[in-house]
Amino acid sequence: MKAVEVLGTKTNPEVTLNPAIPIPCPKKAEILIKVHAAAVTRDELTWEELWLRPVRIPGHDVSGEIAALGPDYKGDFKVGDEVYCMIHTFRGLGQAEYVIVEGEELAKKPKLLSHAQASALPIPLLTGWEAIFERAQVQKGWKVLVTGANGAVGVILVQMLSRVAGAEVIAVASPQNHEALKELGAHQVVDYNTPNWENSIKDVDVVIDTVGDPILAKTWKTVKSHGHVITVGPAPAAWEYGKGRPIEVDEFPNVKWLFFIVSPKRETLEKTAQLVDYGTIKPIDVELFSPDKAAQAHKSASVRGRKGKVVIEFVPEKN
Ligand SMILES: NC(=O)c1ccc[n+]([C@@H]2O[C@H](COP(=O)([O-])OP(=O)(O)OC[C@H]3O[C@@H](n4cnc5c(N)ncnc54)[C@H](OP(=O)(O)O)[C@@H]3O)[C@@H](O)[C@H]2O)c1
Repeated sequence: MKAVEVLGTKTNPEVTLNPAIPIPCPKKAEILIKVHAAAVTRDELTWEELWLRPVRIPGHDVSGEIAALGPDYKGDFKVGDEVYCMIHTFRGLGQAEYVIVEGEELAKKPKLLSHAQASALPIPLLTGWEAIFERAQVQKGWKVLVTGANGAVGVILVQMLSRVAGAEVIAVASPQNHEALKELGAHQVVDYNTPNWENSIKDVDVVIDTVGDPILAKTWKTVKSHGHVITVGPAPAAWEYGKGRPIEVDEFPNVKWLFFIVSPKRETLEKTAQLVDYGTIKPIDVELFSPDKAAQAHKSASVRGRKGKVVIEFVPEKN
């Protein structure tokens, strides 16, 4: 099968297309997916887990059909089911014509979306849900500030916060995206290019950051005492589990802080697929690349100011 493969080093990765990787065979209760489309997440080539694998095939978000079930599989999926999946961060291997997934990593894909649109959603939907409902436990009427609000995770956060959690959303993004963010439910939009933008915002219950420093560092002063700052962006070392504490804690000792890495969860993927099908959450725009343009796709995913998510299409959609 064809698979995207990353050669080189972590500091100088080289994205290639390998046309001769063996198709994996599902063992035990594993599930084999024929991948129609696989999304590229910004910074995924810097994730430690990719560099620990003997064959470095990136890709965690895919949409496709079930091609085979392992001999011990006892669940309710059938061969031919159309599904979308988030493959756990420590496995990946999704940017390929076939990939193995586990039962918690998939759900039926949103019915109204193409595979390309569906492949852009698992990580943003799961990250948004986990941050809002499981980590921060946002309540109706809370004031929540979202950074990187125009990014893939950001646009889902804005919609989920305003339309599902009933929060008041302050979206931090460049000005060309402000109107679109208001349409998605942002109550206030803030331009991160304005010097000292953070001074104009007060008494936020929760910050959900998708950018990391220097934006993350500025958000602390917007939060009320005993509020939360949560980041999923490229985390400063002190934020990673067990490694230390952010220096901002000295100035804001009562603010809770957290960096987390999203986990796949079938129940969440099912709930959020419904939100997409009901039209509560609008899909993310996608920019399509063929597998032989994988290097270009990865380059494009890291460009600032781009809109939507980069997707590598292995089975072109029929019109
Ligand atoms: N920990 C986890 O579990 C987890 C889960 C999902 C994603 N992530 C990470 O979270 C980050 C965001 O993911 P994504 O898919 O949403 O990426 P994305 O679609 O590329 O969006 C990134 C957003 O960040 C903004 N941004 C980047 N640098 C900025 C800066 N210096 N100042 C202000 N805004 C800046 C961009 O704004 P402009 O367009 O204006 O440049 C864009 O809106 C990535 O690093 C990704 O790897 C982590």
